[in-house]
Amino acid sequence: MALSAEPVLPPPAPEAAAHSRLLAELIASTILDAGGWLPFERYMELALYAPGQGYYAAGSRKFGSEGDFVTAPEISPMFARCIALQARQVLEAVGGDILELGPGSGALAADLYGELKAQGKAPRNYFLLEVSPELRERQHALLAERFPDDFDRFTWIDGLPQRFRGFVVANEVLDVVPFSLVYRKGMDLHERGVILTDAGFAWDDQPMVEGDLLNRAAAALPPGDYDYLSEVGLAAEGLVRTLAAGLEAGVALFIDYGFPERELYHPQRSMGTLRCHYRHHFHGDPFFLPGLQDITAHVDFSAMARAAQQGGAEVHGFTTQAYFLISCGLAVMVSAEDPTMTLSRLKATSAVHRLISPAEMGELFKVLAIGKGVDFPLLGFQSARPLQL
Ligand SMILES: C[S@@+](CC[C@H](N)C(=O)[O-])C[C@H]1O[C@@H](n2cnc3c(N)ncnc32)[C@H](O)[C@@H]1O
Repeated sequence: MALSAEPVLPPPAPEAAAHSRLLAELIASTILDAGGWLPFERYMELALYAPGQGYYAAGSRKFGSEGDFVTAPEISPMFARCIALQARQVLEAVGGDILELGPGSGALAADLYGELKAQGKAPRNYFLLEVSPELRERQHALLAERFPDDFDRFTWIDGLPQRFRGFVVANEVLDVVPFSLVYRKGMDLHERGVILTDAGFAWDDQPMVEGDLLNRAAAALPPGDYDYLSEVGLAAEGLVRTLAAGLEAGVALFIDYGFPERELYHPQRSMGTLRCHYRHHFHGDPFFLPGLQDITAHVDFSAMARAAQQGGAEVHGFTTQAYFLISCGLAVMVSAEDPTMTLSRLKATSAVHRLISPAEMGELFKVLAIGKGVDFPLLGFQSARPLQL
């Protein structure tokens, strides 16, 4: 099938192109079965998670310099060491285990568990919730190699636990949970979907029907009668709500790029935040080579905080990644390894620079902490500048 509006990006290897064509055919037949129009949320679900074919469900490299994007745990183990200090504080106070959502390559799990183990504070159980069978295998192989003697502490689970006590972490997971595209044309709200044309996939907007999506879009979009495109992540909200409802005691950290609602749905952000990642190129065409690229959007942290509260949890902190890491002691950690390290030199060392620089991940990435049964200030927010949700 021809693909629409391809940006100028590196061509895939022939077998990768063939893989993408097969997935495009699956999506095309799903569109036809649905009567010719598919909500974007469903398109994204297939493009990323169709069994054996979606971007996260199949074998492309994804992470690291050979892949499509780099995440914080892949940049430096210092990231996991900071999270370990936060996890330790929570586990010492409330007991329980660790649960990681969307562990990707397994780098955070390996370094976080490894750091706690080195401190004599390894949790009895490290649960991993991963929707991708292919990534589960990678995590399995990495953790079996790194921790042959305590591999039985790692358990993969298929869904969110109904009851959980301890520490939960999700780094760059909420941004890849399929979301809806909403488009206000003049005064009318539409849901953006995907149709088939002779040239491939194309956009098509349908008037929104009564329901949760209409209510959320009407509440979130800035007032006005100008055209405005954005995203609404009802499934991500559902994930946070369910997780919060199952939390008996403890803290969940969500780390991702995103904004509070008033910034995400700012009048000037009228083209939305949908972004695709393909071999370290960022672009806005989700129809490009389905199955070979990631599709994401910025997270609405106000909506996530509300969802957590609906699940009975409280918000315990919201700040930038830079403030969180520094509040956890990143600078102290680095200077312990090299006493000549000052904060300004630290900013210049490339891995740490990428984690905390405002021009890189430091400000765009935020950390939201929600919890239950926690009556002490969390380490990562103690000396951090709080942001308004
Ligand atoms: C962008 S990657 C981030 C991986 C890793 N956390 C990191 O920081 O490198 C997103 C991860 O979330 C997983 N994922 C997506 N939706 C999920 C869900 N609903 N529950 C659990 N994992 C999910 C993906 O398969 C993948 O492992």
